[in-house]
Amino acid sequence: MKKKELVVGVFGFGCVGQGLYEVLEKTPGFKTTIKKICVKDRNKRRSLDDSMYTFEKDDILNDPEINVVIELIDDSEAAFEIVSQALNNKKAVVSANKKMIAENFQALLELQRINEVPLLYEAACCASIPIIRNLEEYYDNDLLESIEGIVNGSTNYILTKTDSDNLTYSEALQLAQSLGYAESNPSLDTEGYDAKFKLLILIAHAFGILVKPTDIFNIGINLIGDLEIQYAKEKGYKIKLVANAYKTSEGKVACYVLPKFVRAESNLYSVKDAYNGIITKTSFADTQFFLGKGAGAHPTASAVLSDLSALSYNYQYEYKKILQNENLELDTDCVIDVMFRHSSKESEEVLPYFHSIDEIYKNQEHGYITGTINLQNLKNYKDQFPDSGSFIQLTN
Ligand code: HSE
Repeated sequence: MKKKELVVGVFGFGCVGQGLYEVLEKTPGFKTTIKKICVKDRNKRRSLDDSMYTFEKDDILNDPEINVVIELIDDSEAAFEIVSQALNNKKAVVSANKKMIAENFQALLELQRINEVPLLYEAACCASIPIIRNLEEYYDNDLLESIEGIVNGSTNYILTKTDSDNLTYSEALQLAQSLGYAESNPSLDTEGYDAKFKLLILIAHAFGILVKPTDIFNIGINLIGDLEIQYAKEKGYKIKLVANAYKTSEGKVACYVLPKFVRAESNLYSVKDAYNGIITKTSFADTQFFLGKGAGAHPTASAVLSDLSALSYNYQYEYKKILQNENLELDTDCVIDVMFRHSSKESEEVLPYFHSIDEIYKNQEHGYITGTINLQNLKNYKDQFPDSGSFIQLTN
């Protein structure tokens, strides 16, 4: 097949943008011309010749020679405007912006359909792991039963460093920021929103389910305290932030992001630092495990490079699972095994939300309750008492 020549305009020249530039320089066999890079800050000193930069988005969006727009900016609303305009101007788009994609998934499907131009976003989920294209292309007839994974690099880095290197939470977070892993608003990472955006994208490609970010429940690692860290150590578990999607006996899909105690036997146990790991389970292949760097300039740029290469062969997502039209819905009534760690004052108010209780432990300052809880009740409790205690999924 003849390769299409790509003339590229890039939006954003931060961590990933610069990483992409370096990656392209080191890939001489892949001939792509970056014609212009649109940046925001007029006063920032930059590494390339001034002629490469513009501050006007239309210099890229209205340039007829540019046939691919790469969107790598931070602001998801501005990113959606750029991507919409690029698609409407019949330019193919590559984006790494999971928040923008998750918040506008349906609109982006429609824009691709109307304009007959592709939008690729492998870098938006798990950076270097080619999970979207695998979900889209490979698991077609051997039907997926579940995907479970660590999809956020920063929180995995923080959990690793606080566990193995005895750093404090804020020291580890600062390091994750300085290494370019964390979002500019790091609460998106630590409160599980980034993982939720990625999960929303993954379930569209895995199960054909289209939902809004508010439909998926997420808890992050920000409320985890000493008691549950101690509990994990005593039992030989690691705490990981895990995104889950699995078919339930109701013929629906349960979907949520929660911290989890992970056993040494699980592939997720040894996923360290900013690595991500995804376990898929299908009807015939059984389980498979994908591991790779989930954040950082070059790992993310490697996925953008792969999307660019795919565009040169006219690749586009076919959204096969959406077209198969199984009409799967989210299961909000699924029951999850959890530990709830509380200060002693909070222990009473949570009890009615539990479905069943296995163990109650309490001393003067704090305690924990283990048992099962219905996902909707968990959400109701968190809506009512957002900052109280911490929930961690128990290992199965
Ligand atoms: N903040 C994200 C993470 C970057 O830590 O995973 C990669 O998507």
